[in-house]
Amino acid sequence: MKLVLASKNQKKLRELREILSEQGVEVVTEADVGVDVDVEETGSTFEENAFLKAHAVMEASGLPAVADDSGLCVDALNGAPGIYSARYGGPGLDDAGRYRLLLENMRGQLDRRCRFVSAICCCFPNGDKVEARGECPGTLAYAPKGEDGFGYDPIFFLPAQKKTFAQLTPEEKNAISHRGRALAAFAERLKAYQDHRK
Ligand code: IMP
Repeated sequence: MKLVLASKNQKKLRELREILSEQGVEVVTEADVGVDVDVEETGSTFEENAFLKAHAVMEASGLPAVADDSGLCVDALNGAPGIYSARYGGPGLDDAGRYRLLLENMRGQLDRRCRFVSAICCCFPNGDKVEARGECPGTLAYAPKGEDGFGYDPIFFLPAQKKTFAQLTPEEKNAISHRGRALAAFAERLKAYQDHRK
């Protein structure tokens, strides 16, 4: 099966490919199928935004399309930045600017519990959809550590591993991450969906 990824994030593409290729699913990009869709993420949940992205790319390409909407939810900030993780602090900031702002907004806060959330949605041209959600709990570090990963990885600390996401290899991260968990559940549901249609 071939799915078009509704995202231009190369790191997400790599994570999705790594996990779904094990299930015999080929993930191609919007560019590969000649579409370039800019979707406004107007939903109020990760699930709604994943659906909006996947649905728009499915309509534009006529092919099954998959999207992930994800973000970091901090307990002491009532779940912020949440669905606004990619836009936290406004358009002028890069990844490092966003996580520095988050550390600043958490200065002096001792409750550092947080979790990454990923919602996956795959829309099919016949109107069917397959969805899954994954979460990964952790704590917010006091300072960034590690070189790998993207986004908020350097400040997402895993107490059991005593490392941030940015200090894990891609394989180690995929095994426990929100996206890894969501994709594992998604791959299982996709297989059940395919078996059902045979
Ligand atoms: P999306 O592309 O709209 O889903 O935005 C997700 C945003 O959440 C990204 O830009 C990152 O800032 C953050 N994010 C999601 N997943 C991860 C992750 O695995 N590591 C670090 N940051 C992440």
